[in-house]
Amino acid sequence: MRDRWITKSGLILALAGNAIGLGNFLRFPGQAASNGGGAFMIPYFLSLLIIGIPLMWAECAIGRYGGRYGHGHTAGMLHRLWPHPTSKYIGVFGIFIPFVVALYYIPITSWCLAFSWFSLTGAYEGLQTNAEVGTFLSSFQGWESSEHFSSRSPLIVFFVITLGINLWVLSGGIGKGIERLAKIALPSLFLLAGVLVVRVLTLDPPPGAGPDQTVLSGLGFVWNPNLEALSNPSVWLAAAGQVFFTLSVGWGIIHTYTSYLHSDDDVALTGLSTVSLNEFAEIVLGGTIAITASVVFFGIVATQEIAGSTFNLGFQAMAVIFQQMPFGGRTLGAIWFFLLFLAGLTSAVAITQPMIALVQEGFHLTRRRAVTLVGIALFVMSLPTLFMADVLGELDFWAGTFALLVFGLAECLIFAWGFGMDRGLAEIRHGAQIHVPALIVPMLKYITPAFLAAVLIGFSWQWFKDGLGDASPGIQFARIFMIALFIGIAWLVRTALREPAAEGQ
Ligand code: ALA
Repeated sequence: MRDRWITKSGLILALAGNAIGLGNFLRFPGQAASNGGGAFMIPYFLSLLIIGIPLMWAECAIGRYGGRYGHGHTAGMLHRLWPHPTSKYIGVFGIFIPFVVALYYIPITSWCLAFSWFSLTGAYEGLQTNAEVGTFLSSFQGWESSEHFSSRSPLIVFFVITLGINLWVLSGGIGKGIERLAKIALPSLFLLAGVLVVRVLTLDPPPGAGPDQTVLSGLGFVWNPNLEALSNPSVWLAAAGQVFFTLSVGWGIIHTYTSYLHSDDDVALTGLSTVSLNEFAEIVLGGTIAITASVVFFGIVATQEIAGSTFNLGFQAMAVIFQQMPFGGRTLGAIWFFLLFLAGLTSAVAITQPMIALVQEGFHLTRRRAVTLVGIALFVMSLPTLFMADVLGELDFWAGTFALLVFGLAECLIFAWGFGMDRGLAEIRHGAQIHVPALIVPMLKYITPAFLAAVLIGFSWQWFKDGLGDASPGIQFARIFMIALFIGIAWLVRTALREPAAEGQ
């Protein structure tokens, strides 16, 4: 018997937990602020309409369709959708991407847990500048020596705890593991974010602050649209990339979650609820907390500079800001980093699940055994991310950005043209609790793929222009590793799909 979601609300929370992650609270503020605040928001909303919602619906429909045949991973699903010899290898992307991202996403989630602890215990108290907290962070990571850490043991301990919680949840299965986690973690996350939003909106500027260091200028920075940015291709690329990252589209993980739906369950309202909850968390909560707090404490110009690196804003600047708050800074700092941890954890289980589905279904293993094998692989393969310079950035560039666009485009073409939009529309509308407009047909057939192709060309051009640069040993290792991993997963898929899967039910 295939594992299933237990309740409708649990499924929606789990899908929202899948989407709401470090992307909403760490990546979005960084991207929005460094791309001009309000200037970023128009391309962002257009990308959401042109790519985000259509792909979310297509992926939910593909997942439920594949689930009828017992497939929890995109290789099996795409093969069912379009029985061409290449389709299952295109589907390998939907296992490869989340697995590679897990190799840095779980470590980063563990840093959030560590910082929550450090904040609560006052470990970085007294470090008053971004640079000082930066030294604290990099000596925790083992890249720099300082008086704060004498070894990498704390790094390993927090990583093992986070990976352990992730695997423990996954060993409970879909309903009793992932759904249960979502039912606890998501409401807690919204509550913690609510506390922080209230605190940030009531912040007073620090002594000696400039005239732009107010809550209102922080909000205005994000919300005042700037039409000039529409002609800047790099803002479009950043906005489209953020939509992919935050909604979890183009990853293979929305498909996996919706494969555990019943055959007649709605996907249209489910997909739209996921987008809405994610956008609320991203724009209202994620956009307000870090950007507004940073504008109040440092001003707009400095915020744009700080936001150039994700960790500068979310880790360093926020650690400094909470310490400067007149009341309860330690606790608020711990809340911020714990919020990041919860957001990361509910996405971390989602990015681990496709590989578990492949191993479990393809090789007829028990869930526990599949989780153990994937857990060992994750632990071993995460070590280079933790210990070798430049590996994280390279994995993020290829798997967490470029491959998402490639897979998003490929699956869109397979769904709209290989499967066909007559069947595609019927599939999205099947069991739907809302009306899905027929506009989705030209969207998925022409507009979404054309937009995606343009983004991909722009992205490749920018990369080509910047050049490959000097490849450090970490970068070289990461590239060879990714190629070898892709081939390894393709081989697993080929072996797993040799036996016919269960017939549609
Ligand atoms: N969509 C998830 C995030 O935003 C993966 O982090």
